[in-house]
Amino acid sequence: MKRVLSGIQPSGAPHIGNYFGMMRQMVRYQEQADLFAFIANYHAMTSLEDGGALARGTFDVAAAFLALGLDPDKATFWVQSDVPEVQELTWVLSTIAPMGLLERCHSYKDKVAKGIQPNHGLFAYPVLMAADILLYGAHVVPVGKDQKQYLEVTRDLAVKFNHLYGDVLVVPEPEIDEDLAVIPGTDGQKMSKSYGNTIDIFTTKKMLKKAVMSIVTDATPIEEPKDPDRCNLFALYRLFTTPDELAALRERYLAPGMKYSDVKKELVERIWTFFGPHRDRYQWFQDHPDDVRDILRAGATKARAAAAPILDAVRSRTGLVY
Ligand code: ADP
Ligand code: TRP
Repeated sequence: MKRVLSGIQPSGAPHIGNYFGMMRQMVRYQEQADLFAFIANYHAMTSLEDGGALARGTFDVAAAFLALGLDPDKATFWVQSDVPEVQELTWVLSTIAPMGLLERCHSYKDKVAKGIQPNHGLFAYPVLMAADILLYGAHVVPVGKDQKQYLEVTRDLAVKFNHLYGDVLVVPEPEIDEDLAVIPGTDGQKMSKSYGNTIDIFTTKKMLKKAVMSIVTDATPIEEPKDPDRCNLFALYRLFTTPDELAALRERYLAPGMKYSDVKKELVERIWTFFGPHRDRYQWFQDHPDDVRDILRAGATKARAAAAPILDAVRSRTGLVY
């Protein structure tokens, strides 16, 4: 069975962009592949320098993933730093990673261009990501378009390692869904924690209402027809409808008299209902933190067992075993 691996940074509360863009696909993969999913807390440290926030974020993302259907009996689910062997492979890979290759990586280059002093962690970010993937022999890595370059670095490093030391590492295939819609935020830009335009999955009804009511719409008067295809509210609403319901909403847009505020009120209810059962489960995990930690530790044990033969081969081929 193909091993599919992906990671998510615990940099804040998960939002509906994360759900439709990543988490839902992951939960589906566990039915058809050997899914390895982890929380990339070492990576998050390159941008978050608040220990409390990192610990909280790690726990919350784990609880969210479990509440949204990730099943630890079907998938291997762990926290990156619970398998510190990944740092050993990072070092080995960093000794064969050309400086020029890393200097060309966008997230590093962009920071330098903006005059931000980048830390070494950010520079080494792609090498750690390569280690995440190669340590577990993953065949397929589903990621967003923004991660494509890191997958190329991973493949380059795997090929180079194998060339130098013999065939040990699996060269992974990226899986980039070009059609996967970018979910817009309340202001119409890509929904992202860094833009403050998110609709969070597990929030109170009051906060949900506040977020949905703040969705920016145009100033077309009530008595005029409206354009669904250029409407941010419509793009968000469609995530929570059946095709028939969407067609009915389109008719309402095209007829005079529709009020955006009515559509927003309905959307609040739809989102609230959609995540209802998950919300109860999320609360359950929040109330049982030791159960969450047990699940993650058991996941790390499984991940470590998968890593062991690969790391043993790496150590012996590179001469670390004497
Ligand atoms: P953020 O931009 O909020 O910091 P991340 O970069 O941590 O989100 O993204 C985590 C995962 O969720 C990635 O796989 C990413 O592709 C996906 N994702 C994030 N925002 C969106 C969005 N607006 N639409 C679709 N997918 C998204
Ligand atoms: N860099 C990824 C992101 O920001 C997270 C990540 C870390 C990852 N290691 C990974 C994704 C390995 C896939 C495979 O979204």
